[in-house]
This record gives sequence, structure tokens and C-alpha cells, in this order.
Amino acid sequence: MNKTSNLEKIIIVDVGGQYSQLIARRVRGLKVYCEIVPFTTSSEEIVAQGPKGIILAMGPAGEDQRDISPLEASLQQTKIPLLRFHPEKVDTPSGDELLGSFVTDTCGCQGNWTMQSFIEIMVQDIRQRVGDRPVVCGLSGGVDSAVAAALVHRAIGDQLTCIFVDHGFMRKNEAEEVSRLFGNYFSRFIHLSAAERFLTLLRGVTDPEEKRKRIGNEFIRVFEEEANKLGEIEYLVQGTLYPDVLESGIGQGEVIKSHHNVGGLPEDMDLKLLEPLRDLFKDEVRVLGLELGLPEEMVYRQPFPGPGLAVRIVGEVTEDKLRIVREADWIVREEIARAGLDRDVWQYFAVLSDTKTVGVKGDTRTYSYLLGIRAVNSEDAMTADWARLPHGVLAKMSQRIMEEVDGVNRVVYDISAKPPSTIEWE
Ligand code: XMP
Repeated sequence: MNKTSNLEKIIIVDVGGQYSQLIARRVRGLKVYCEIVPFTTSSEEIVAQGPKGIILAMGPAGEDQRDISPLEASLQQTKIPLLRFHPEKVDTPSGDELLGSFVTDTCGCQGNWTMQSFIEIMVQDIRQRVGDRPVVCGLSGGVDSAVAAALVHRAIGDQLTCIFVDHGFMRKNEAEEVSRLFGNYFSRFIHLSAAERFLTLLRGVTDPEEKRKRIGNEFIRVFEEEANKLGEIEYLVQGTLYPDVLESGIGQGEVIKSHHNVGGLPEDMDLKLLEPLRDLFKDEVRVLGLELGLPEEMVYRQPFPGPGLAVRIVGEVTEDKLRIVREADWIVREEIARAGLDRDVWQYFAVLSDTKTVGVKGDTRTYSYLLGIRAVNSEDAMTADWARLPHGVLAKMSQRIMEEVDGVNRVVYDISAKPPSTIEWE
């Protein structure tokens, strides 16, 4: 973020540890803005950013260290405060103290990085970049796109049109709620119900990747058709976050890249990207969302896959299976909330298998679906462990699902960690 010169900034040079992001989070916790740059960055480039201090985020001791002595020597000459930070310190109280005293005492930072200041800077920046041109945003119901759109809306109001493509695979009542909320929030909001179209497209398809691909492509097509009706559009808003930027290793990308996820970009629309969250971590995005007036249930929404319930039905997606998984999922969420666990468990849901098993109801034999309950804890979705839900909560879910959801006669709890499993079943 090189939008303003009076923002105190610390530069973190990533020397190969996996800890740069953790260090960055700590520095931002001190209300000081910081950015991570690769160790291949030249000292001139670093100095040109006007940092109040520089932290070398080292790799683990004993492992092959990259030779950064030329860079270090060159930075030492600049007189900008420099700290070599070793990963052993990251999780220790003395590590926090060390960072705190470096940032505050040595570099003299006051802490002027607040959400309010971020909003002011971004609003100006967006206005300047966009001028009076029209902008479009595809909303998925997820946190990132909603907050990105809300920030752009704060800057340019009704120059922004938001399009919510409802593929029919949202959870119970979700599409209506999202639509009501966004309809009230954004001055120009379009809700496209395309459930029929998506369901038809998936008829007979059982392969998970094929399902994802079809949904992703159709999503783009529906979005594009609608966006084209709006006339000349120049910018597209994307909810890209800082970890995505770091991961992809790209700079200020202006032109659209291919993207395979739902909510991804039409490749050939030739739009410029507005990515107002590309400097933020996920928890900062949540704070920003609240600051911009989005409700808590949206800002703290648990992760939900772009292709929605379609990948929570193993095998072919049909209207009846959607009903089953939607009702069961509702019960799972309701019972988690009742137990007061909704902020403690990272992700939880129902998943419908394509296996039928024998059961009994009254005097009658049944032959119905096996349904799974999945609840996991995770930091970043890369690894996850199954949540140790209280037995009482599991018992209630199971009992209610079998009583209330027609078509299920057996419920299992998934006790698999990721890896080797994944969080979703498809
Ligand atoms: P897995 O199943 O890969 O999931 O362990 C990791 C996280 O990603 C979510 N997920 C998706 N999100 N599009 C998305 O936007 C997808 O196709 C998709 N598949 C999985 C999943 O819910 C979990 O939080």
C-alpha cells in the first residue's frame, strides 16, 4: 500500500521462514502497518518505500540459511533501524516484547494504522482510480467479496453494481437472507436466481471435479451475461486478500487472471481489477466489515465452498438430495448454535453420501441414505482436525435428523483429520 506517505510502515524481509506472516500480524497488532517483501528485493527498493524500520524474518536455526549478508550490509548503511528476527522467538513472550520494543522504541512508531485510517486511504484511492466510471462486483455471499464491495460502495456509491448469482446450492434461507441484506446495503443490487439452469447442467454428473468445473464456468457465464447488460463497465471488484497476494507472488496485477473457483473471473471480459483488500489479513477484513456496517452474521460466516451444497452431495445432485442435505445442515447449525459453539468450531455441516443402508421405522424396513456430520477446527484450511463435539450435541443432531429429515435412516460423525482426508467429502 503506497497510497500515503504519513502512514508508518515496517518492512519485513522474508528470508525463508514460514513466519513472516505471523510477524506481520504481530506488528499490525501494534497498529503499525507492515508489508512482507522477498529477500531478493534490493535495499534501494526497500528504502524507497520509506520504512520506519526493517525486520529480517529469518529461517529456522540450523537449516540452510540464505546468504543475505550483502543485503543486510547494505541496509545497515541506510541507518534505518534493522532487526534480525529468529523464528524461535515467534511464539514466545520475549518475541512479542522484542518486536514491541523494536517497533515502538527503536523505530519510534506511534501506531497510526487503524481501520478508520485504512478506510479513508482506500476511499480516496478508489475514487482516484475509478473516476466516474462504472464498476461491477460479483457477490457470492462470502465475507471477502461482501467487504470488498462494501468498501468500494463507500467510495463511489451507485457507480457500483453488485450482482449476486444464486446457483441454487446455498444453505437453507441463505439466498433470501443474503439478498435482503445486500438489497438494503447496496444502492444497485441484482439478484439472479439461476437454480434451474445449474441443476440441469449437473444432471447425471457424478465426478466432483467435473461438478466444480461446470458450476464455475456457468457462474461466470451468468455473471457475464448480466454484466454485459449494464453497458460499458471498466472495473471488476475482487475480494483478494494479502495471503493470496503473497502466495501467488504477483505484484499490483491490473489485468484479469484465470481463476477456477466459483466467483472467479470472466477471463475475456477485459476488465481492470479493483482489489481493495489486497493489503489485509482475514481477521482485519472482518473488523473492516463491521466498521462498514455489515452485520456480524455475515462477517463471521463460516467458510462455505463456492459450489455450495453441490459438493456436499456425493454423486449426482438432484432436487430431492438438495432438500435432504439442506434440512440436515440446518439442524447441524441450529444445534451447534444452541450449544453456544458457533464461534468455537471453525466449520460444521452435513454431507449426504450416495450410500443407502437398511433401517427400521415402526414395523417397517427402510432403505435410505447415510448422512455424515462434519465439524472441524482449523487455522487456514490447509490442515484440520475433527472437532470433539460433546456427545450430547451429536446425539441431538442425529436424533433430530432422523426424525425430521425424510430419506435418512443413519447418521455418522466424521472423525478424520486433514490430511489425509479433506474437509469436504468431494
Ligand atoms: P478441502 O475440502 O479442500 O477444503 O479440505 C478446504 C476449505 O476450502 C473450502 N472449499 C472450497 N471453497 N470452492 C471454494 O470456494 C471450492 O470448490 C471449495 N472446495 C472446498 C472448504 O469448505 C474448506 O473450508
